[in-house]
Amino acid sequence: MILSFNFLNSKVLLIFSVTLLFRPHFSFATSNPTGLTLRFDVDDSPGSPMYRIQNLSIDERIDRLIHVSNARANYLNLISNSDTTILPDNIRIPLLRESSWYAVEFTIGSQGQRVKLLMDTGGGLIWTQCQPCLNYFPQKLPIYDPRVSTTYATLPCEHRLCKTPGKNLNCVDGLCRYAVSYGGGTSTKGVLSTETFHFLIDKTNTRDFNVVFGCSNDTTKVSFQNTEISGIFGVSISPDSMARQFSTETNSRFSYCFAPFDGAVPPPLVLRFGEDIPKFPAGHLQSTLVLQPPPYRYFYYLQLLDISVGNYRIGFPPSTFQFRAGGAGGCFIDSGAMYTFIDAGTIGVNAYERVMSTFIAYYGSKGLQRRPGRSFEVCYVNRIGFNEFASLTFHFNGADYTVDGGYVNVFKQGYFCVGILKGPSKTVLGAWHQQNKRIIHDELFGELQFADENCANDVA
Ligand SMILES: *[C@@H]1O[C@H](CO)[C@@H](O)[C@H](O)[C@H]1NC(C)=O
Ligand SMILES: *[C@@H]1O[C@H](CO)[C@@H](O)[C@H](O)[C@H]1NC(C)=O
Repeated sequence: MILSFNFLNSKVLLIFSVTLLFRPHFSFATSNPTGLTLRFDVDDSPGSPMYRIQNLSIDERIDRLIHVSNARANYLNLISNSDTTILPDNIRIPLLRESSWYAVEFTIGSQGQRVKLLMDTGGGLIWTQCQPCLNYFPQKLPIYDPRVSTTYATLPCEHRLCKTPGKNLNCVDGLCRYAVSYGGGTSTKGVLSTETFHFLIDKTNTRDFNVVFGCSNDTTKVSFQNTEISGIFGVSISPDSMARQFSTETNSRFSYCFAPFDGAVPPPLVLRFGEDIPKFPAGHLQSTLVLQPPPYRYFYYLQLLDISVGNYRIGFPPSTFQFRAGGAGGCFIDSGAMYTFIDAGTIGVNAYERVMSTFIAYYGSKGLQRRPGRSFEVCYVNRIGFNEFASLTFHFNGADYTVDGGYVNVFKQGYFCVGILKGPSKTVLGAWHQQNKRIIHDELFGELQFADENCANDVA
């Protein structure tokens, strides 16, 4: 295919050709002046957990996604066991590859150089490899060269983003240098800079943002080398994220909506910021506070009070899902984990066991035949015509989040399993249980908002 463009000399050709031939890789924003829409596509390059996933059997596919979920849950544990002065940003990458399955592609700079970045729900920094660099990982796209871009500038050390507390930032010779070091010897270093990012809004027009980003010239041991991925696109609510950098345009809000995962590969994920977030009639949007205790500052920790299976409210003591001494406990919503975990280490009552035994009692009462599962513990032979699947409700502080019975379970050949994994020490509301939900992160109000939506209609 026509991938070997000389980008520097044929920008127009590039935009047109890429739009027509490689449209799936580019996001299309809307033209709303105070909004932004970015489409992230499933990253199926070699090394990605999504590589070859469409050719796998259902069971293999599910195992692959469980692996992704485990990586995420382990990561949350890792943070909770780490020194609380280290922000998650500094220890994230080894798991990034396993827990980030979306990538976004767009052009940057006056020459329209292509970058493809892996979505990271745990951080906000956006970085890409930059020329000239001595220590770099091989990438299939040409490495971005700021020297040929007239819109590139280094970030003045006085800039507020060069003073974000807790991050490893240093002013050296007037350059704001960052270093993000990760477990296992992985690290990236570079210079905080500004550059114009061009997001396509239709075949010819772009919506341009002057973004503070990391120009990395020293990166070691990343797991995504030799792919088109050239860096990371953080989508958290930390101060360096898109939503926060452009708070005027975005009202510090961003949202997404997972279309049902019925196919072999998860559908693209559309991130909507600000005014591009759909409006809901009064009463349809629920909200609950997001707490950000250190070291989870940029994760979405929710106050979970109780759980219902179908109409049966279990009645957990309200402290069940709070943090415990040593950092265990807590409930997070995380689109980086595919499946939901319920904490099996809760004090007094084992929350995981209690929820699963409620499902067992429910399906027992419907006369379904239990069968062993591979990775999920509670599975049933699927009776033809049976459709009384129990819903699952998370009772958050001020908001009930109900997963429709149709989306609670994972369906396999001839049987289904309740799509909940045993959480070693945390409760994580994963992507599977976010199907057909509009999830809105509102940093201004410190809230998570959600509503039912037909997400297959959300295209960009
Ligand atoms: C999946 O299988 C098809 C048909 O065998 C093949 O053409 C395709 O390249 C495979 N895809 C991957 C990612 O291996
Ligand atoms: C990266 O850029 C900084 C600032 O220009 C420079 O001091 C440093 O030596 C560079 N590192 C590498 C590995 O090229």
